[in-house]
Amino acid sequence: MAGRIPQHFIDELIARTDIIEVIGSRVQLKRAGREYKACCPFHDEKTASFTVSADKQFYHCFGCGAHGTALGFVMEYDHLGFVEAVEDLAARAGLDVPREGGSSAPAQPHDEIYVALERAALFYRQSVSGEAKARDYLAKRGLAADVIQRFGIGYAPARWDALLDRYGATEDERQVLHRAGLVVERQAEPGRARTPGFYDRFRDRVMFPIRDTRGRTIGFGGRVLDGSEPKYLNSPETELFHKGRELYGLFECRQATRSLQRLLVVEGYMDVVSLHQAGITYAVATLGTATTPEHLQRIFRLVGEVVFCFDGDRAGRAAAWRALENAVSEVKQGRQVRFLFLPDGHDPDTLVREEGAAAFESRLAGALPLSDYLIRELSARSDPTSVDGRAKLVELARPLIRKIPSDVYRELLVSQLAEAVRMQPTRLAELLQAGEGSGPPSHGETAPTRRRHARHVHSAATGRGNLVRQAISLLVHYPAAAAGIQGTEALDHVDRPGVALLIELLAQLREDPPSSTAALLERWRERPEHAPLSKLATTECLVADTEAATAEIRSAIERLVAEDSVTRLEALQEKAREAPLSAEEKLEIQALIRNMAKGARAGRAK
Ligand code: CTP
Ligand code: MN
Repeated sequence: MAGRIPQHFIDELIARTDIIEVIGSRVQLKRAGREYKACCPFHDEKTASFTVSADKQFYHCFGCGAHGTALGFVMEYDHLGFVEAVEDLAARAGLDVPREGGSSAPAQPHDEIYVALERAALFYRQSVSGEAKARDYLAKRGLAADVIQRFGIGYAPARWDALLDRYGATEDERQVLHRAGLVVERQAEPGRARTPGFYDRFRDRVMFPIRDTRGRTIGFGGRVLDGSEPKYLNSPETELFHKGRELYGLFECRQATRSLQRLLVVEGYMDVVSLHQAGITYAVATLGTATTPEHLQRIFRLVGEVVFCFDGDRAGRAAAWRALENAVSEVKQGRQVRFLFLPDGHDPDTLVREEGAAAFESRLAGALPLSDYLIRELSARSDPTSVDGRAKLVELARPLIRKIPSDVYRELLVSQLAEAVRMQPTRLAELLQAGEGSGPPSHGETAPTRRRHARHVHSAATGRGNLVRQAISLLVHYPAAAAGIQGTEALDHVDRPGVALLIELLAQLREDPPSSTAALLERWRERPEHAPLSKLATTECLVADTEAATAEIRSAIERLVAEDSVTRLEALQEKAREAPLSAEEKLEIQALIRNMAKGARAGRAK
């Protein structure tokens, strides 16, 4: 497993990246003073409200509110995950992406494995033409030359050493083939002293290369030409290939369509290839596994709409239900999950060939929304007309309903379910609640406190005239201003929302100054404060430069401490009216008064 990408590398990457170049290569930018402008690529508009700041290395659209760093832009615009976006920018900057906790491995330990897989893919492709039975098989399956080429479909010869012979001359090379999952280690046979060697994993099979989102081959699926078993053989899990997260055909979908709207998830390799050939170029397949939450997260990073397509048989229905169980935790506003069941005896490959793309797409249009499917299935599995049946329905529904993260969606679903089984929605909601607490809570222990913290920052960020917000906002706009701020210990006692963040920011920015606003924001990417901090970067800053920002922050902190002293003093005086103060409290009052007098003198002296 690859380790985390170290933060210092992200810092460097942001420092070496120019957001104007990154965005400018994808969107037509026009210079406007110190900034650049464009029509927003994230919403439809005729006048340019999308601005990019070279100083802050930050973009913001006044129209739709989209904002972020160069990294964030690449993630949004190219629909990439964080790691992929980092790799993209790093390649651009000519940097290798290091990983934390990696052994003493070289900077790009996977390079040779990628090369081995690419060589194998080429070899398999080239082997088709020399093998009549492979050509015949592909023709029999009705695959057109262009789709064979687009998917890089090939053939693994019926030999135990076709790859080994070519690419496994040395022990090092054989080890690479092994790490790539292309060869299998021979089991030592009892009684034989001979050192075990390797043999080709894929033999006499039609080969489907599995590619990552950047088009690099990371594994293969291989189908037999006849009826032998197993019908499909997949690459094993390797350092590059993780079955539970890859979607076959995703790269090809993105090649075919500039902006993907939806994805169709089917079960098989042949289904994907056939659908693409028919013009349905948004089909992907899981690789002989159930749909995992990881799959869903990847899907929803790309599109807002997904249709799961399953065979109408029992296995298909079981797979659909598993997909639903994993999907409920991902349903949110703006995300659509639907299910399509095909007539028994058909799969997408046979069906699209039989009835054509238009008929197939009209089936898609009628696919069952997740809520309908859930209700239908739950009602079928219990008998909601009887008392026992209702109890069973509630038991079946509870774990699913609990996983739904959106309150709005959950309530909607409960009321729909209630209506379907003719129960009072409030009564059903009560019954669903009743078992609450028997299982583990769906959120981690720290989630509520983290959320609360994030809300605090947010309120600090939105409260008008709020001193904490002002100081944080200035730091976001002028991170270098932190260098001129000393003596923040007095802040330690100030009890206000956001102060903890302010202290942390000051310490971090002083210790290790980031190159820009963007670099600062990237350090907070995984913290709940990331969103409110980014939001602050979009607000207008009336301060002209770092020096002025330093002065403003200093004065905000002084005022914060002074205001806090007043509050504390008032509290102590209040208390004194009711009961005698302790010796300590009396000392505190004296110290507070002394400090306030000092502050006032300093203020007058200015
Ligand atoms: N599968 C697998 N291993 C098997 C059988 C199936 O990994 N031994 C996976 C493959 O991804 C396959 C999918 O499950 O594409 C669906 O299997 P199946 O319906 O049996 O095959 P089809 O996709 O219909 O393949 P074909 O049309 O080539 O028979
Ligand atoms: Mn099939």
